[in-house]
Amino acid sequence: MKIKNRLSLYFTAISTVVLLIVEIAICITINSIIKSDFYSKLSDRASVAAQLYLEADEISADSLNHVRGRYLQRLPDEVVRFYDDKNAASFITDKNQYWPSSVINQVRKFRSMEFSEGARQTVGIYYNDNQGNFVILASAIDHAGNKRLNDLVKALSFLLLIVTIALFTASRWFAQKTLEPIDKVISQMRQVRVGNLSLRVDEGNGKDEISALAYNFNQLLEHLENAFELQETFVINASHELRTPITSIIGEIEISLNKQRTTTEYEQVLLSILTDAERLKETITSLLELAHVDMNYTHPAFKPVAIDDLIWELNDYWTARIGKSMFVVNVLKLPEDPDKLLIPANRQLLTIALNNIIGNAFKFSENKKVRCDLYADENYIIVTIADMGIGIPADELEKVFESFYRGANVKGYLGNGIGLYVTNKIITLFNGSISVNSIPGQGTNIKVTFVR
Ligand SMILES: Nc1ncnc2c1ncn2[C@@H]1O[C@H](COP(=O)(O)OP(=O)(O)O)[C@@H](O)[C@H]1O
Ligand SMILES: [Mg+2]
Repeated sequence: MKIKNRLSLYFTAISTVVLLIVEIAICITINSIIKSDFYSKLSDRASVAAQLYLEADEISADSLNHVRGRYLQRLPDEVVRFYDDKNAASFITDKNQYWPSSVINQVRKFRSMEFSEGARQTVGIYYNDNQGNFVILASAIDHAGNKRLNDLVKALSFLLLIVTIALFTASRWFAQKTLEPIDKVISQMRQVRVGNLSLRVDEGNGKDEISALAYNFNQLLEHLENAFELQETFVINASHELRTPITSIIGEIEISLNKQRTTTEYEQVLLSILTDAERLKETITSLLELAHVDMNYTHPAFKPVAIDDLIWELNDYWTARIGKSMFVVNVLKLPEDPDKLLIPANRQLLTIALNNIIGNAFKFSENKKVRCDLYADENYIIVTIADMGIGIPADELEKVFESFYRGANVKGYLGNGIGLYVTNKIITLFNGSISVNSIPGQGTNIKVTFVR
C-alpha cells in the first residue's frame, strides 16, 4: 500500500475509534440520565398512589380507581400494586398478581428499590399506615425515553459516518500534499542512469527529511560519478601499460625476422624483449595485487599480524635480494605487552604494501641503504621507511598515491605508478594511514601509522 494511503487510513482509524468511544460514553450517560429520570417519575407515582389510597380511608376502592384513572396522568403501560403484610394485592387487584413474593419481600427489607426487566422499569416503596404496612410497586415502560435514546444513537452514528469520510478525505489530501516532494524526487531519480551520473535531484528547501534524502542521494551520485571516472581512467591507463610492452615486443620480433641476423643482433633483440617482458610482468603483478586488495574490501578476513615479526622477515628478504646491511632495521621502542604489536590484517597484503614502499626506496636511490624504523607503544605502531634517493618534488607529494601517477623525475626508472596506489589502499583497508615527507635530491621518508 502507498504511504499516503497508509497514513490517511491510520489517521482515520485512530480518530474514528476515539470518536466512537466518546459517542458510546455520551449514549451511556444519557441513557442513565433518562432511566433515573423515569425512576423518579415512577417513585412519584407510587407515593401519590399511596397517599391517595391509604389516606382516603372512607372512599371506596372502586371510586378511587375511577378518580385515579381519570385525573392522574398514567405512565405508558403503567402497573401499580399494593401488597399487604401477607403479600396479597389490595386496593387494586385483578387476576394478575404481577410481582412474586420474593420481590415484595425484598422491597420490604430494603424499604425502597429500583430495578428493570427488559424495557420495563419498576420502583418499589414501603409505606407505614394506620391501616397496616404496605409495599407499593409501580412499573411502566419509558417509550418516549427509549425513542429519544434511539434517535440519539442514529444521529450520532450518521455523524460518525460523515466525520469519518471527511477525515479520510482530508487526511489523504494532507498526506498527498506532504509527500508530493517525494514523488518529484522519485521521478527525478528514475532519470538517473550510468550514462548520466552528472544529473542531480532537486534538494528543495534543505530543511526537511525529504531534502536530506535528496541531498544524500546527490552525494551518492557524486561519489559514483567520481568512482566511474576513476575507473575509466584506470582502465585506459592499465590497457596502455599492458599494450605498450607487447606492441614493442611484437615490433622488435617482426623487424628481427625480416632478414637473417647475426648472433649479437639476436642477443640484443632478446635483451630488449626481456626488458619489455619484465615491465609487463611487473604491471600484471601490480594489477593482480590490486584485484587481491579489492577482493579483500568486499570479503575482509583479518588475522592478527605481529609487525616486528613481519619486519624481520622483510629484512631477510631484502638482505638476500640487495645485500648485507643494505636494509637497516632500527627498533626505536617496543611496548611491554607483545599483544600491542599485533595489527588485525592480512599478512600477505601487508607484506605487499611494505614491499612496495621498500622497493621504491631502493629503486629511487639506486640501491643506497634504506632505513626502517619501528616505533610501537601502547597506542601507536609506526613504521618509517627512509631512503637517500632522488626525492619527490614538493608539488607531487599529494599525487604519488594516485593510480598510474609517476613523478616527473623518474623517467629513467622502471615502473608503472600502481605501487603506492595499491599500498595506500591496503593500509587504509587495515585502518592505518600513510604519509610522505621528501627533500628532492636528498631522500624520502614514508610513514605508516596504525592507531590502536
Ligand atoms: N622512495 C621514493 N623516492 C622518490 N620518489 C618516489 C619514492 N616512492 C615513490 N616515489 C614517487 O611516487 C611515484 C609512484 O610510486 P609507485 O606507485 O610505486 O610507482 P612506480 O614505482 O611504479 O613508479 C613514483 O613514480 C615516484 O615518482
Ligand atoms: Mg613502485
